[in-house]
Amino acid sequence: MDGTGATPERPAVEIRPGVLVCPDAQAVAREAAVRCVELSQEFITKEDCFSVALAGGNTPRELYRLLASDEFRSQVEWSRVHIFWGDERPVPPDDPQSNYGMAYRELLSHVPIPPENIHRMEAEQPDLVCTAKSYEKILHSHLSIDSTGFPRFHLILLGLGPEGHIASLFPPTKDLLNTREWVAAPFVKKLRSRRITLTLPVLNAAYHVLFLVTGSQKAEILRRVIEGSSGEPLPAELVKPVNGERVFLADRAAASALLQRSA
Ligand code: 6PG
Repeated sequence: MDGTGATPERPAVEIRPGVLVCPDAQAVAREAAVRCVELSQEFITKEDCFSVALAGGNTPRELYRLLASDEFRSQVEWSRVHIFWGDERPVPPDDPQSNYGMAYRELLSHVPIPPENIHRMEAEQPDLVCTAKSYEKILHSHLSIDSTGFPRFHLILLGLGPEGHIASLFPPTKDLLNTREWVAAPFVKKLRSRRITLTLPVLNAAYHVLFLVTGSQKAEILRRVIEGSSGEPLPAELVKPVNGERVFLADRAAASALLQRSA
């Protein structure tokens, strides 16, 4: 070990509180997979279940593949795992754009998880506001509620969008915090479409939030999120679990702007 706590098996180095840098995207996926396994074992031991909200987009794909691999699959008690999503696009589950579809192809179709433990956001429905309300009922029946009245996921996985969005929570951020909704159906101007998404208070009620950030294209936005941006905060800056832990797992490319500042 070189004093940073890194080992060949776990090469992640903490460069800021809660910001760990791995050599490359594969190492980010591996560190995330180890953490998912550890958290599943912790919460299944404590609560006989592990409730996780998956991230969409491309970054988590390699993590899902690893969790489905022979090396990791057998370390998770899948019958006690409940899978949810942080957000979903307004497309059918078999659409290439579907976050559910990607997770199903890369992970869920390869592990012995009971179908009733997979809680898909039915974002292909015509009335997404109604769909959001239905999903809130699913959360209510599976998750404990914290002292502020929001459901507590054991783990929420998040990516980081190029303009600092998380799940389908996009700037402007002024309305994101003051909501009592658990699931929202915002119209996203940038995408010219409506999405289904967990709300910020639900993200902040989680026991653990794990960001996966890879690639040089994320370097500047990650730096802004970690160091704070002038003016209105970015959505990702508002993710601060009230009674939980927030960890960023980044590869060197995504952390390059931060590493330059630390040099
Ligand atoms: C989505 C995601 C979104 C994603 C970021 C990063 O539905 O697109 O939930 O929030 O995590 O846009 O996406 P990449 O991982 O593809 O960079």
